[in-house]
Amino acid sequence: FKRMTDLDLQGKRVLIREDLNVPVKDGKVTSDARIRASLPTIEQALNAGARVMLLSHLGRPTEGEYEEQYSLKPVAEHLGELLGRPVPLVKDWLDGVDVEAGQVVLCENVRFNKGEKKDDEELARKMAALCDVYVMDAFGTAHRAQASTHGVARFAPVACAGPLLANELDALSKALLEPAKPLVAIVGGSKVSTKLEVLDALADKVDQLIVGGGIANTFLAAAGHPVGKSLCEHDLIPAARKLAEKVHIPLPVDVVVAKEFAETAEATTKTVDEVAEDDMILDVGPQTAHVFAALMKEARTIVWNGPVGVFEFDQFGEGTKELAEAIADSEAFSIAGGGDTLAAVDKYGIADRISYISTGGGAFLEFVEGKTLPAVAVLEERARD
Ligand code: 3PG
Repeated sequence: FKRMTDLDLQGKRVLIREDLNVPVKDGKVTSDARIRASLPTIEQALNAGARVMLLSHLGRPTEGEYEEQYSLKPVAEHLGELLGRPVPLVKDWLDGVDVEAGQVVLCENVRFNKGEKKDDEELARKMAALCDVYVMDAFGTAHRAQASTHGVARFAPVACAGPLLANELDALSKALLEPAKPLVAIVGGSKVSTKLEVLDALADKVDQLIVGGGIANTFLAAAGHPVGKSLCEHDLIPAARKLAEKVHIPLPVDVVVAKEFAETAEATTKTVDEVAEDDMILDVGPQTAHVFAALMKEARTIVWNGPVGVFEFDQFGEGTKELAEAIADSEAFSIAGGGDTLAAVDKYGIADRISYISTGGGAFLEFVEGKTLPAVAVLEERARD
């Protein structure tokens, strides 16, 4: 695909699709990682003398309706602070936007337009008519074929990838398509069912597959260990067994259990065979954490998605903490992605010591699964024009 950095943007109307879908509470942005990740792209376009129009979605509003709680207003304010210049929010933008060279505006939530989610052609053509150059930079939304991520790229005079999107693809390709070995993946989270495709895809690629959280419980049950009243998908035990035949999955040898799922719950460490009927497994135990940490030391590539315990509650966060620190200390090329994972990266303060932190949640997983991201595919098609 074409890259924004190779184009002359002086005086051009440049429409940049970012993923500024960030958490907002009481009119304030509560985590601005995605906004910060988009800054280099925006600054480069401004410095190149472009007339910059930014597009993004926020949340999942009712299609085609203005809903104040999904307004990008807090994002425009926050972005303005980070850029050190005001970023006007344009409410009605589909019929044309006034913006001077070297200036930037943010267009209101693309999902307020009817047809955005179903990639409506008429809507996409209107967006394309706003610009000379369309820049797709929203890696986090690249798995969506929607008017502002896909359709617009078909009709814009020029369509290219922004620096953030290009960096994300480069980093993920390095980790998954040509990894230095051993390649170790950690897939945590509550359910096997939501990560089955990811686990399947990774099982074919990695040397070790570490599972954590509720996912690990299903694997423990598949290996014949008691799991008490832990989260566990018994119907997926056959699928778990099949995966375990394909790749080495180091199972926990000890776990941290509680009688209830609560911030104040008392934590007890047990071996996996001591788990009682009324126990809930909420973290891996210290011995297991050491084993996982040792694997991080040997790895040359690490792909991390999902915590290994309920790290929101400190007494069940030790496993994730030790793992996070081991990843940070490792010399491997490490990549982390997904909302919970990034919250863990923040909580344990290791962001600077991870080789690459992806802004993608669903998009990150789909890339790992080996799926084609439609917003990237269309850029490749356009490059062949
Ligand atoms: C995300 O947060 O994963 C992206 O911004 C995509 O959002 P969506 O799942 O609402 O399309």
